[in-house]
Amino acid sequence: VVDIKGGVDEGLDRLGQNLVVKGWVRTLRVQSSVTFIEVNDGSCLSNMQCVVGSDAEGYDQVENGLTTTGASVCVEGILVASQGSKQKVELKVEKLTTVGKSDPSFPIQKKRVSREFLRTKSHLRPRTNTFGAVARVRNALAYATHKFFNENGFVWISSPIITASDCEGAGEQFCVTTLIPSSREANESLADAIPKTKDGLIDWSQDFFGKPAFLTVSGQLNAETYATALSDVYTFGPTFRAENSNTSRHLAEFWMIEPELAFANLDDDMACATAYLQYVVKFVLENCKEDMDFFNTWIEKGIVGRLSDVVEKDFVQLTYTDAVELLLRAKKKFEFPVKWGCDLQSEHERYITEQAFDGCPVIIRDYPKEIKAFYMRQNDDGKTVAAMDLLVPRVGELIGGSQREERLDLLEDRLDDLQLNKESYWWYLDLRRYGSVPHAGFGLGFERLVQFATGIENIRDAIPFPRTPGSAEF
Ligand code: 4AD
Ligand code: MG
Repeated sequence: VVDIKGGVDEGLDRLGQNLVVKGWVRTLRVQSSVTFIEVNDGSCLSNMQCVVGSDAEGYDQVENGLTTTGASVCVEGILVASQGSKQKVELKVEKLTTVGKSDPSFPIQKKRVSREFLRTKSHLRPRTNTFGAVARVRNALAYATHKFFNENGFVWISSPIITASDCEGAGEQFCVTTLIPSSREANESLADAIPKTKDGLIDWSQDFFGKPAFLTVSGQLNAETYATALSDVYTFGPTFRAENSNTSRHLAEFWMIEPELAFANLDDDMACATAYLQYVVKFVLENCKEDMDFFNTWIEKGIVGRLSDVVEKDFVQLTYTDAVELLLRAKKKFEFPVKWGCDLQSEHERYITEQAFDGCPVIIRDYPKEIKAFYMRQNDDGKTVAAMDLLVPRVGELIGGSQREERLDLLEDRLDDLQLNKESYWWYLDLRRYGSVPHAGFGLGFERLVQFATGIENIRDAIPFPRTPGSAEF
């Protein structure tokens, strides 16, 4: 038994060999004396063309309509040079077995279907070229991520999914509770069923964890605890945000890669982000050629060349203050007007990397402290923090990071300023009490990386089962 990738890649060396291929029928062309079945097993984009003559064992399955598009098959035959122009080799079938027939209602027939339509068929869309290729490239990016960090001395840390702390302090967490009965028992008197205190407030002491708990928005704070013990570490896991943003770049559940570097400042952080991004992009260009050619032709014309540039070039660096000036000078009319102190919107970010710097990734640093999270290290100017965002064409913000405030007094002041509950960050503050060090890190949204590397426009197509406002099926 070979996978189709093996059969196709090494096809010419394997000519004359007897092979067994197992997969799903993509198309079927019945001609008078032979039938061509294109079989795909997901190992690569290419199909194995299987030529079934009327003398082949199991030919009756073609005749009586058992073998159709969508069916799973096991095909045995001899690999021969193909007469056709589309493939070098094909399988001359000796025995065809239909393992699981496919109902005629199979929704992914040969004609091209839209990605919007396929989003309503998340369970079957991996059977298409596009979603097969996205899945393989996503896998390669994950593999390259672990490879990069391990080759550079980082230790992978599993950060918790359920937590009591809000890393970003933005209040965008999903609550995890057992106070509300499971859906089977849910009824209209639900509100009455929630235990309350004498004052009529929710009685969290009766909940599973004895207090409110949430799905994590970021593993950073936990990563910091390990970075101040094991030095460089990284997390790679799911994170959750109850942001009500229905855009092509936001998910309610996304995967984040968060390295945390000990004895490091913002420059070290930016250097790490650059080296990481160049490494993983280069990895897919070298290891996913067939899929990348597919994206280059069908999804985002010229993407391979532009990604090759990203691997070669230095990234642009500028301060937030310079970025604001650049935007104020821009001829383009923005929907959101710019002034110093405003948060940059996606239209601004894309203008900077796409227009101002011709598609080169841009790192913006030193943002106003008012628009950034509590943990970022204050700069000497008293107005800005040592934060950085890395912007790339088509996606905008791919990475957000910072040097962390390692000085206990300044961190406590910041929590007070923002009226955050200092007690609940007691363990985080301990890291500044016991052997504090300058440290820095960043978070990269993995689906945005998949978008960047494949050219897929909508983030809902960069993850197998997208979770967005109003949509959590499958
Ligand atoms: O900029 P963010 O919010 O930074 C943090 O969470 C830090 N704690 C990271 C750190 O320093 N360790 O998020 C980081 C990245 C963004 O740049 C973006 O790529 C991605 O996570 N991201 C999202 N991706 C998809 N859907 C969403 N709703 C996202 N929110 C953030
Ligand atoms: Mg951010």
